[in-house]
Amino acid sequence: MKLFKDIQGMRRYTKEARARGAIVAFVPTMGHLHAGHGELMAAASAAGDITVLSIFVNPMQFGPHEDFNTYPRTLEQDLKTAEAAGVDAVYVPDIAQIYPRGYQTFVTVEELTKTLCGEARPGHFRGVTTVVLKLFNIVAPHKAVFGIKDFQQYIVVRRMVQDLNLDIEIIGVETVREKDGLAMSSRNSYLDRDERKAARCIPRAFDEVNAAFFGEIRESATLINIAKKIIENEPLAVVEYIAVCDNETLAEVEHIEGAARLMLAVRIGRTRLIDNCLLEKKDWVARLDNI
Ligand code: PAJ
Repeated sequence: MKLFKDIQGMRRYTKEARARGAIVAFVPTMGHLHAGHGELMAAASAAGDITVLSIFVNPMQFGPHEDFNTYPRTLEQDLKTAEAAGVDAVYVPDIAQIYPRGYQTFVTVEELTKTLCGEARPGHFRGVTTVVLKLFNIVAPHKAVFGIKDFQQYIVVRRMVQDLNLDIEIIGVETVREKDGLAMSSRNSYLDRDERKAARCIPRAFDEVNAAFFGEIRESATLINIAKKIIENEPLAVVEYIAVCDNETLAEVEHIEGAARLMLAVRIGRTRLIDNCLLEKKDWVARLDNI
């Protein structure tokens, strides 16, 4: 596995791969890799000939009072994980290379970033899209893989790619969960034992909402209340937002007809967790097709 810390080396590597006709698949991350990232690397290997992983804790997407300084940095372990996953090259830039002195250019996806996490974390998505576009320009992949766990991020990146005519296919990967249903996240390592237990209220809320949805409840307000009650019943948990959104446009939905998603952000102690679950009525024909 190759390790690149400089832009030129990274560029040369994918340029040569592309010249040979290889399909380059890219997985951007902030490191502290877990099995969720593992699925993204597997999807990249399946979709391309060469897998490139980046590890960069991007200061631009953290607010002034957020966890940039304490974000877990485990490079040595991550390199082992990436190698075992069959990654061909890892790109680990330093901050000065990505944001040299005098840096002043940003990418903003306007509307999709005004709600949900965008409302709670001003400037967050501007930091994400800016760094993702820069990484795309450096790595020059044919395809890039993102997790559905961060659903708004996935939709925002897809919008940027479409709006800026980037010739990159975006692949979405389903959320990987712990045994008790908690979505894997680098930030789960902030949780102490009691908080980790308390975090189970999130998958429990999804189970109840799903049961209600399949019991023909289609009013978003009712489904949101079911989730809210379960989470607010947990003393260590504080709801930041719970919303039901269209699965394509992210627009808030009052009454579910097509595919929708329950989206939420919850604080457990000082840790902010986000998750979502799909609410889509499968008709009988579709279900029979799956058997
Ligand atoms: P990070 O949080 O490291 O996540 C990297 C990728 O892994 C994202 O696409 C994220 O959605 C995906 N991911 C995280 N947990 C997952 C899970 N449990 N199941 C499936 N996929 C999961 O997201 C970022 O980094 C950054 O914002 C980044 C895109 C790298 C830009 O800085």
